[in-house]
Amino acid sequence: MKITEKIDEIRNIVSEWRAAGLSVGLVPTMGFLHEGHKSLIERAVSSNDRVIVSDFVNPMQFGPSEDLGSYPRDLDQDEKLCESAGADVIFHPAPSEMYNDDFSSFVDMTTLTGGLCGRTRPIHFRGVCTVITKLLNITTPDRAYFGQKDAQQLAVIMHMVSDLNFDTEIIGCPSIREADGLAKSSRNTYLSANERAAATILSKALGEGRAMLGSAVTSGSPVTADAITATIRKVIESEPLAKIDYVEAVSWPGLEPIETADGPLLCAVAVYIGKTRLIDNFISE
Ligand code: PAF
Repeated sequence: MKITEKIDEIRNIVSEWRAAGLSVGLVPTMGFLHEGHKSLIERAVSSNDRVIVSDFVNPMQFGPSEDLGSYPRDLDQDEKLCESAGADVIFHPAPSEMYNDDFSSFVDMTTLTGGLCGRTRPIHFRGVCTVITKLLNITTPDRAYFGQKDAQQLAVIMHMVSDLNFDTEIIGCPSIREADGLAKSSRNTYLSANERAAATILSKALGEGRAMLGSAVTSGSPVTADAITATIRKVIESEPLAKIDYVEAVSWPGLEPIETADGPLLCAVAVYIGKTRLIDNFISE
């Protein structure tokens, strides 16, 4: 498994692949890879001749009081996982390789980023859009793969790629879960044993919301978005260790407020379990 830290080197690798007529897939990550990332890499391997995994904890997408310093890192483990999933190269730049001292250009979006996670993380999506723009420019992939667990991020990136005419297809892939339903996340490692048990409340609550929507569809009498979010809230509030950041049902992928849940929608939650902020969602298309 090749690991490169240099932009020039990854560009040369991609040029050689292109000269040989090979297609390229990119899986952008912040490392500390788990089964969710593995499923993205395997999906990329199945549809592209060569696959790059970028492994970069992007400082620009963390707010001043967020967990940039403590975000978990383990390049040796990442290398093993990438190898077993069939990736070809890991791109692992230092922050100084990605952001010069005089870095001053940003990619920002005026829609889609103000609600949901954008409300508590106001600079987050500017950091995500900027780093994804850089990664797409550096690696020029045919396809790039993102998990639906970060559904707002997926919607934002699809919109940005369309707005800015990137020649890359964005592929959203299903969330991967632990056996008890908890969505896989690098941040799950922050949870104590008690908190880990409490964290299953997110997927349980979303399951109730989805069931309510399912019954409404079966019976032909649409339910309101408020009724779904109220059901989800009630379940989460039954868990003493959980503190809700938001519970919202919005249109998918436009992320607009909706009254009635009768079209494609995203139902998303962000919940603090102790000090750890976890997100989860379901998309109904
Ligand atoms: O989802 C993530 O891990 C990050 O937000 C991403 C897309 C790799 C950008 O840094």
